[in-house]
Amino acid sequence: MLVLGIESSCDETAAAVVEDGRIVRSDTVWSQVAVHQAYGGVVPEIASRAHVVNVVPVLEAAIAEAGITLDELGGIAVTRGPGLVGALLVGVQAAKAIAYARGLPLVGVNHLEGHLCAVFLDTPRVPAFPHLALLVSGGHSEIVIARDFGRYELLGSTRDDAAGEAFDKVGKMLGLGYPAGPVVDQLAQTGDPNAVKLPRPMRGKGLDFSFSGMKTAVATHLQRNGLPVGQALADLCASFQASVVEQLVSKTMLALEAEGLQQLVVAGGVACNRGLRERLEREANARGFELFVPPPKRCTDNAAMIACAGHHRLARGERADLALNATATLPL
Ligand code: KG4
Ligand code: ZN
Repeated sequence: MLVLGIESSCDETAAAVVEDGRIVRSDTVWSQVAVHQAYGGVVPEIASRAHVVNVVPVLEAAIAEAGITLDELGGIAVTRGPGLVGALLVGVQAAKAIAYARGLPLVGVNHLEGHLCAVFLDTPRVPAFPHLALLVSGGHSEIVIARDFGRYELLGSTRDDAAGEAFDKVGKMLGLGYPAGPVVDQLAQTGDPNAVKLPRPMRGKGLDFSFSGMKTAVATHLQRNGLPVGQALADLCASFQASVVEQLVSKTMLALEAEGLQQLVVAGGVACNRGLRERLEREANARGFELFVPPPKRCTDNAAMIACAGHHRLARGERADLALNATATLPL
């Protein structure tokens, strides 16, 4: 079955066609990053307006790239939340219009479930259920047990900022633009992770995360020492990244052990982070669990992951009607 996925929860307008929940026939992502950069972050109204302009061309591009006509689709999956509500509504309405016009089954997908499904795309090496998942994006940081497609159990989440949000806010303080996560990652490559002592919060406090204390510690460091340049900037980025990675990895290891699980999926934009990927690979080798991380382009927002999650919902007989609506906060 061919499923058309539509994603518009934040600043990417995306459409994709996925076959049987696994084979990506097309994967089109139009990023608005350049539009929002001038403001140092995503401006919701500008995002909504850009989705309105881009959604039809993106859909046309995804259908053309897949080499199909709309008549060959078996269903449509669209992100219904969580995210910016004005942005989500554009994708939801586009999905409803096509479903109505073509008489196609429609399903709403939780964006977070989409991220967890990215690991099943275009690869024969996929995790079995149940497995543990670390979901780290710009809006969420969660440790989850995936029991099956559509069946998730939350073990821990952030008490304040999400990991990606912390990267972006610290990067912004350092004058690294938006989104700063990838730039911090790049600079950290040549920095000394032990150069600046930062707090390691939430040790011994279960599976929840907290990142705002680290952000404050960086702010205090900047007040005392001024804005770093050159090697000092790289060192600060490396130190901050190391303390985020340390917290993410130590909690994830605790959860794997406590739940007796052997397979770990890492998902969301922060799963692109090289420090996190390298540390997890080392731990997987040392402790003998299996690590599954999607390629970077499938860690950040895309519609192929939404089509995959939607495929499994459609296959189970789930259907949304034309009253489908967007929801800003939506738990997994
Ligand atoms: O999953 P995503 O594309 O969107 C959300 O659902 O939030 O994640 C975006 C987040 C941003 O905060 C971005 O800075 C962060 O992922 N990110 C990274 C890296 N690449 C993206 N953070 C650290 N290192 C990276 N290489
Ligand atoms: Zn996302």
